[in-house]
Amino acid sequence: MKAPHTRVAVVGAGVMGRYHASVYTALPSASLVAMVDPDPDARTYAAAQYGCDVFESVDAMLGAVDVEAASVAAPTSLHHRIATQMLEAGIHILVEKPVATEVGQARELAALSRLRGKVMQVGHITRFYRAVQLLKREVTRPYLIEARRLTPNTRIKDVGVILDLMIHDIDIVLGLVKAPVADVCVAGHALNGSRHEDVAAAQITFTDGCIARFLASRVAPDAERSLVVAEANQTFRLDFAREPHTEIAIYRPQPSAGNGNHVHVDRHVVFEDNPLRKELEHFLARIRNAAPPIGTLEDDLRSLTLATDLLARLAGSRAVVGDGAT
Ligand SMILES: NC(=O)c1ccc[n+]([C@@H]2O[C@H](COP(=O)([O-])OP(=O)(O)OC[C@H]3O[C@@H](n4cnc5c(N)ncnc54)[C@H](O)[C@@H]3O)[C@@H](O)[C@H]2O)c1
Repeated sequence: MKAPHTRVAVVGAGVMGRYHASVYTALPSASLVAMVDPDPDARTYAAAQYGCDVFESVDAMLGAVDVEAASVAAPTSLHHRIATQMLEAGIHILVEKPVATEVGQARELAALSRLRGKVMQVGHITRFYRAVQLLKREVTRPYLIEARRLTPNTRIKDVGVILDLMIHDIDIVLGLVKAPVADVCVAGHALNGSRHEDVAAAQITFTDGCIARFLASRVAPDAERSLVVAEANQTFRLDFAREPHTEIAIYRPQPSAGNGNHVHVDRHVVFEDNPLRKELEHFLARIRNAAPPIGTLEDDLRSLTLATDLLARLAGSRAVVGDGAT
């Protein structure tokens, strides 16, 4: 049976909002009716590109069109205000990650979505990567995880690199390690007068002994997105920077007839097949009660809590050093 159409809007017509709009336009189960952006150039582009109505504010949109669901892809510092307004108006929302800048705000939104009976999904797109889903199936008890997410892109200014980039890897790691966090340490720095950290390194120790190390930078000369997950009998190395593929190498010790161990390496190339499309299809399916959530609001809160804990420690830390690039 054909899925019913959902009338959707996208709030924020910047880089991410345009990706959302392109996907919604191509989905048979959605109809993109509106985009909101205070920037007139962004509105002109959106109207021409997607043929939808455009508005300079959420208020203007709510008074003019009937919208059932919306992606919130405005700057992170505005998520709480805009998401509150949308939920109050009875609209299901997909809020880009991170859901908010503070855990208290995220809790308020989660409570409001429950109160209003509306779906709130957070745009943790890595949950829709096949390679990440493979890790969740295969990894049982990691003892070491190393995540590197580096880019030369400083477009996002309203939050630092922990909420902007590292939170992706925090969310992956918390999807793999079920033990509580025992200890964290963090260092980082801001460059060229930036109000927020542009580079951050963190180490999380879990109560089961697993150590997760993170490096995130938006001032790196070259892009890198990689993940290593080691457990007793196998190690996974993922390279996410080969879009639309993820390269995976799995190392397993092989006892040899002679002395010592050989390492057997399995190499896989996984076609990721547009994770954003899968994320938005999942959002629409949840609105129709056709799918249980992939990742709950509790999972979102856990990731944000750890990220903001790192930020608080970084603010109080002496390990913030001067200019440089990583
Ligand atoms: N899931 C991912 O992989 C991913 C990747 C990039 C960005 N993001 C997230 O998406 C969000 C947007 O990031 P971006 O890269 O598109 O930023 P961007 O700066 O390219 O776009 C933000 C847009 O929001 C508009 N805007 C500002 N105030 C607004 C308001 N009050 N109402 C509506 N729109 C408003 C801006 O004019 C701009 O066009 C951020 O929260 C970011 O963390 C997620």
